[in-house]
Amino acid sequence: MVTNSRIQTTPLPTLIFCFIICIIISQIVADSQLGYGYTITTVTNNPTSNSFTANLKLIKSSTVYGTDIPFLSLTASFETKDRLRVRITDSLNKRWEIPQELIPTDSSSSSSSSLSHSFLYQNPQNSKHILTHPNSDLIFTLHNTTPFGFTISRKSNKDIIFNTLPENPLNPETFLVFKDQYLQLSSSLPSKRASLYGFGEHTKSSFKLQPNQTFTIWNEDVGSSNLDVNLYGSHPFYLDVRKGSSDGRVKSGTTHGVLLLNSNGMDVVYSGDRVTYKVIGGVFDFYFFAGSSPELVLEQYTEFIGRPAPMPYWSFGFHQCRWGYKNVSDLQGVVTNYAKARIPLEVMWTDIDYMDAYKDFTLDPVNFPLDKMRNFVDTLHKNGQKYILILDPGINVNNTYATYVRGLKADIYIKRNGINYLGEVWPGPVYYPDFLNPHSQEFWGDEIKLFRKLLPFDGLWLDMNELSNFITSDATPHSNLDNPPYKINSNGVQRPINNKTVPATSLHYGNITEYDSHSLYGLLESKATNKALVSITSKRPFILSRSTFVSSGKYTAHWTGDNAATWNDLAYSIPSVLNSGLFGIPMVGADICGFSGDTTEELCRRWIQLGAFYPFARDHSDNNATSQELYRWDSVAASARKVLGLRYRLLPYFYTLMYESNTKGTPIARPLFFSFPEDTATYEINSQFLLGKGVLVSPVLQSGATTVDAYFPKGNWFDLFNFSNSVSAGSGKTVKLDAPSDHINVHVGEGNILALQGEAMTTEAARNTSFQLVVVFNGTGNSYGQVYLDDGEAVDLEAKEQWTFVRFYGELNNTSVSVRSNVTNGKFALDQKWIIEKVTFLGIPKNERLSRIDLAESESELNVVNGMNSMKERVLKTKFDRSFEFVIVEVSNMEQLIGEEFKVETKIR
Ligand SMILES: *[C@@H]1O[C@H](CO)[C@@H](O)[C@H](O)[C@H]1NC(C)=O
Ligand SMILES: *[C@@H]1O[C@H](CO)[C@@H](O)[C@H](O)[C@H]1NC(C)=O
Ligand SMILES: *[C@@H]1O[C@H](CO)[C@@H](O)[C@H](O)[C@H]1NC(C)=O
Ligand SMILES: *[C@@H]1O[C@H](CO)[C@@H](O)[C@H](O)[C@H]1NC(C)=O
Ligand SMILES: *[C@@H]1O[C@H](CO)[C@@H](O)[C@H](O)[C@H]1NC(C)=O
Ligand SMILES: *[C@@H]1O[C@H](CO)[C@@H](O)[C@H](O)[C@H]1NC(C)=O
Ligand SMILES: *[C@@H]1O[C@H](CO)[C@@H](O)[C@H](O)[C@H]1NC(C)=O
Ligand SMILES: *[C@@H]1O[C@H](CO)[C@@H](O)[C@H](O)[C@H]1NC(C)=O
Repeated sequence: MVTNSRIQTTPLPTLIFCFIICIIISQIVADSQLGYGYTITTVTNNPTSNSFTANLKLIKSSTVYGTDIPFLSLTASFETKDRLRVRITDSLNKRWEIPQELIPTDSSSSSSSSLSHSFLYQNPQNSKHILTHPNSDLIFTLHNTTPFGFTISRKSNKDIIFNTLPENPLNPETFLVFKDQYLQLSSSLPSKRASLYGFGEHTKSSFKLQPNQTFTIWNEDVGSSNLDVNLYGSHPFYLDVRKGSSDGRVKSGTTHGVLLLNSNGMDVVYSGDRVTYKVIGGVFDFYFFAGSSPELVLEQYTEFIGRPAPMPYWSFGFHQCRWGYKNVSDLQGVVTNYAKARIPLEVMWTDIDYMDAYKDFTLDPVNFPLDKMRNFVDTLHKNGQKYILILDPGINVNNTYATYVRGLKADIYIKRNGINYLGEVWPGPVYYPDFLNPHSQEFWGDEIKLFRKLLPFDGLWLDMNELSNFITSDATPHSNLDNPPYKINSNGVQRPINNKTVPATSLHYGNITEYDSHSLYGLLESKATNKALVSITSKRPFILSRSTFVSSGKYTAHWTGDNAATWNDLAYSIPSVLNSGLFGIPMVGADICGFSGDTTEELCRRWIQLGAFYPFARDHSDNNATSQELYRWDSVAASARKVLGLRYRLLPYFYTLMYESNTKGTPIARPLFFSFPEDTATYEINSQFLLGKGVLVSPVLQSGATTVDAYFPKGNWFDLFNFSNSVSAGSGKTVKLDAPSDHINVHVGEGNILALQGEAMTTEAARNTSFQLVVVFNGTGNSYGQVYLDDGEAVDLEAKEQWTFVRFYGELNNTSVSVRSNVTNGKFALDQKWIIEKVTFLGIPKNERLSRIDLAESESELNVVNGMNSMKERVLKTKFDRSFEFVIVEVSNMEQLIGEEFKVETKIR
């Protein structure tokens, strides 16, 4: 824009004054340089451990955010062929690192011994040190530049996946900085080809990370209805899905993962062409996961941090909670009304209302007296239902409170200035158990055990464990912990690290500061609770934790916290659920119908439609919001019956996905690019997701909408509510689908076989219904599916052969369609007498022969190889789908034991 600018003459003294100011400013600018980087002094090769170590020397010191650490050591090592570790720390002094007992990093000899030696060589001309491994696609290169930098690239396609070389012309923002309380490292990215996902926990409007944002990582009790601020958990992990390079070397969908294993507070600045870590403690301990598919990255990531915990079968049922149930009859009323409305209710929850003055392990003697509560829980159990209650970590300071007294005796509370730190939460004054203290396990486990003897609850809900505190204690004067030189979270709503939590100067067992271990609290509490429940019940525990850290998925499920009853929050729940899956916590959901604020009939209806397909499906509301149980509106109840009906039919599928998570780490709810990494259109999708490989959920997320624009990746897709409706997506396209008020679009993609069961009011009842196979052929006439079956509650999956695993293979050719099974450990399923009653074949293209198909064919066309000796009259039906593009073949009235290998084949003419 051109403005009327008048040229003025400036008096000489002003110019001189300006000149002096400029010199002073430039001086300040020079002094304010964060750091000057490091150079390499020596490099030591250690081929027996697939690693080398470089000694680094500071180029020049700066004083911003404290003094630089003069000597660093950098170790690069192949821990497995797909995991490269780069650790940079002070070479002279030990620094804070996450305890080995919590997240073991000392590479187990078993995994690295499976690696043969790596090769290190130096190329003197280019002054590079290179670490490679014959079985790994990754190459680590140390560059002897000034300042030094390192790169990680792929052998297969030469793509550089991480690049810390200082930007040219030298840009100090890109230098390595390493001070006691400020660590900085920056990697450049190919901005047009890199799509990043992860860095949590935040609520974001888009799943793919948007450039020019700072992601603060530091656990805080902040409602998840707040966008783009640090929430309850810390996950310094990202997935980078690359688009293909123009020269064709890099294939679209080539993916790697990067973890910075560090529990200190940090800001991660993402500019699109760079990711810069600014961390206020600990060390740089990076792990690079080679992929090269998204699924493989998750497999490699969870191999390192721990596979997600197995979840009990019942936890995939529908859950109802509310803060504000007033008494036992309130609870009973809700359970009765669900039954009356014929909406499945698996688990009834209570929030802090049940407690006596908000004290853990107590019951309000007036409103939730023990005898009535026992009765209530016993009745739930008789009906095949479950009960879960909340626990907060703060223990009320009150000499008449036995739990408190026992904690005091065991001396397990967090301390500050030599005495127990006094915080304040729901019960008023509290001390917090220190889960870094080995005696806390016993204390916490005993309290759970005592209470469970009184009231046999089925699972525990761990809230407020960020740690949340209603007060902000005064900072210790001159403390660089309570008041560190670099302030994280200085963008947007600034919240100092001590704000409403336990102050950073508080001490844990072994003199570990809160400053260092703050974000580990939820993980430690989940671990202790999990261990306690396993030992008390000898069953698979169900724990739901609000606060999480890297590896929390090993112990707990997660919900996205305090969202709000708004349409935006409904939409944001998809990125949040997908992120939790990337973080290795696949059992996750958002509060259905919204937690805070008043929901509406329409919002609640659309929310249960989506929420029925969250891995974890719970309706929960705030104590001052309108009640939102699903039966409260006829239209919500009707929709709930329909969508939960499909969820319950899909229970074996959900459960098998849980098994896959537990064995391979793949999320239950997945971004579309997990199954279609080569399709770059899927990278941007925020409003749809996949369950497993091939069930696509396309919800309505806007008020008033009765259609939805859904993206379908390549292939044919079939409506799971009505197999007759199909979408032929060719190589991938957006389709406008009808989405009337009671409907959500859920499709199964070609190439998949689903094992479904029947609808029921509880998961236990659903397990007694017969199976139906849905076999969806793809272009090559194939399909595959699998189902894992066990008792649903054994502590370990695959324990004592009390399980069955069945693989299904479908085949279509010009003359016949067939499905066969391959059974591992059939005995368990045979003992249960589970049968397959029906097989539905989808995706059979109409052709000249098939266009003459009769609506009902004779049974003689049906050929069964194995089993089915005790068959009733089988029925074979064929018909066209609505589009007249496909033929549907259905074999019903079968009595095929699922634990027995079989093949069903029918001729098509
Ligand atoms: C990010 O910020 C840079 C520098 O301010 C700017 O050039 C760029 O256009 C921004 N990118 C986006 C996507 O906003
Ligand atoms: C201690 O707990 C008892 C029982 O709930 C309660 O009556 C009393 O007020 C509490 N005292 C304090 C100081 O909170
Ligand atoms: C705590 O953070 C909030 C912003 O989240 C801010 O308004 C408040 O002033 C902070 N309190 C203190 C004591 O720093
Ligand atoms: C913790 O610090 C105190 C005071 O500095 C010291 O007496 C004690 O030995 C330390 N304990 C441990 C386990 O390091
Ligand atoms: C409801 O309670 C929340 C705290 O949970 C509070 O922030 C909010 O202002 C309350 N809303 C109303 C309408 O009272
Ligand atoms: C067809 O499905 C089978 C089984 O899922 C799969 O192995 C195969 O790769 C698929 N073929 C195509 C072309 O998608
Ligand atoms: C077609 O598939 C059926 C079932 O798997 C098989 O028995 C038959 O041999 C196949 N026919 C041809 C022509 O491939
Ligand atoms: C069944 O699967 C097992 C394990 O993968 C394999 O060894 C066996 O050959 C398979 N049998 C058939 C008939 O496919």
